[in-house]
Amino acid sequence: MAEKSRKAWGGRFDGETDKLMEAFNSSLSFDRRLWREDIEGSKAYAEALARAGVIDSGECEQLTEGLSRVAQEIESGEFDWRDEDEDIHMAVERRLSELAGPVGGKLHTGRSRNDQVATDMRLWLMRAVDTVLDDLKSLQRALHGRAETQTRAMMPGFTHLQPAQVVSLAHYLMSFFWMLQRDRERFRQLRSRASVLPLGSGALAGQALGVDREFLARRLGFERVSPNSMDAVADRDFVAEFLSLAAIAMSHLSRLAEDLIIYSGPGCGFVVLSDAYSTGSSLMPQKKNPDSLELVRGKAGRVIGRLAGLLATLKGLPSTYNKDLQEDKEPLFDCYDTLTASLRITAGVVVTLEVNGEKMAAALDDFLLATDLADYLVARGLPFRESHRVVGRLVRECEKTGLGLKDLPLETYTRESGLFGPEIREVLDFASSLAARGSYGGTAPGAVQAQLEEARRLLE
Ligand code: ARG
Repeated sequence: MAEKSRKAWGGRFDGETDKLMEAFNSSLSFDRRLWREDIEGSKAYAEALARAGVIDSGECEQLTEGLSRVAQEIESGEFDWRDEDEDIHMAVERRLSELAGPVGGKLHTGRSRNDQVATDMRLWLMRAVDTVLDDLKSLQRALHGRAETQTRAMMPGFTHLQPAQVVSLAHYLMSFFWMLQRDRERFRQLRSRASVLPLGSGALAGQALGVDREFLARRLGFERVSPNSMDAVADRDFVAEFLSLAAIAMSHLSRLAEDLIIYSGPGCGFVVLSDAYSTGSSLMPQKKNPDSLELVRGKAGRVIGRLAGLLATLKGLPSTYNKDLQEDKEPLFDCYDTLTASLRITAGVVVTLEVNGEKMAAALDDFLLATDLADYLVARGLPFRESHRVVGRLVRECEKTGLGLKDLPLETYTRESGLFGPEIREVLDFASSLAARGSYGGTAPGAVQAQLEEARRLLE
């Protein structure tokens, strides 16, 4: 009896799929990005079938040659993408059968799209992580390169967005280097954790043909083989993790963007954004806006939303594969695209940033030295809490009189504490304040030099 449905799975169907349903069901518009991984996985699977004696070596060759031709067609843009193919796996198999003939129908023996798509996704993600790692490193290099020449360039460091203490521009820039270093560590760990082969799990229960899964893992570059087929076909932790790590990395970029928006704004003017990463206003001729940084900050929200969306998709799924899992792809691809673009744009901004040392120096306010004064009293034996109070009173005096700490006469100091002497002039100096913080991890030029050395080794 003739089948009414033309689908690969059409045997048990009498009727055609509704057109809207066909479009709703299709993932081809986005999962075609998996074509390389899909074809590689299929070639390896054909070899594994031959090794298991399910097909003979001639058939294996026909399949792998056919798959190579499909790859060529996709690569060159000749491939005839058809909506009714449903997804990349069906599209490749359909074309393979057209090119190789009936042997094409043997490729899927013992395999399910469930273990197939899980394999494709993991392969794709492992490569995506490699690119993310490179892009993270490039941004680290950019920050490191700028920091190297700025160990003595002083600026106010902020807490609560209030001027707090003197820091060097190098120290500030390097603070982001270490955030990105943790991002790199996390992505590296993810790569290894995701390096588990699902293929050979079948639809959910494993396969009965004696396919050598260790061979498949080696052949496809996986570190390990999944130990439970039911878990393997439904596990998307690796996607959720990628999105989490991307969200964390984007939050770092967003914070850097926020700082640079403030530091380049009229209130600070510490840095000037290159024209290459700014845009104008369609109405106000004077405007040069930091759109690059605003977009990075904005896109962090988008990536965080993708993570929340995927977790919501995953949380209520019954075992094992459910079509909901097809919703893993767009967030993964989108977060990858967004993260890599944001990393590259941010690196461009950092490399081309112009530093305005005068504006930074002009922003150094005497109050940034208040802690140094308290430290001075501590060095002369006063308990810190007491010296904190003494300097607090001096600050209040400044606010009352409109004078800076450097302008107050020595008598005002000695009136508050007999421990003050003329040497406070040396303490009331920004460069001394910077140099004083020389312990490991501090902002003193020497300490930052050591930090830069340590960082350089991590970039090798
Ligand atoms: N396009 C599907 C996905 O992305 C492939 C797996 C389909 N499996 C199935 N049993 N219908 O998840």
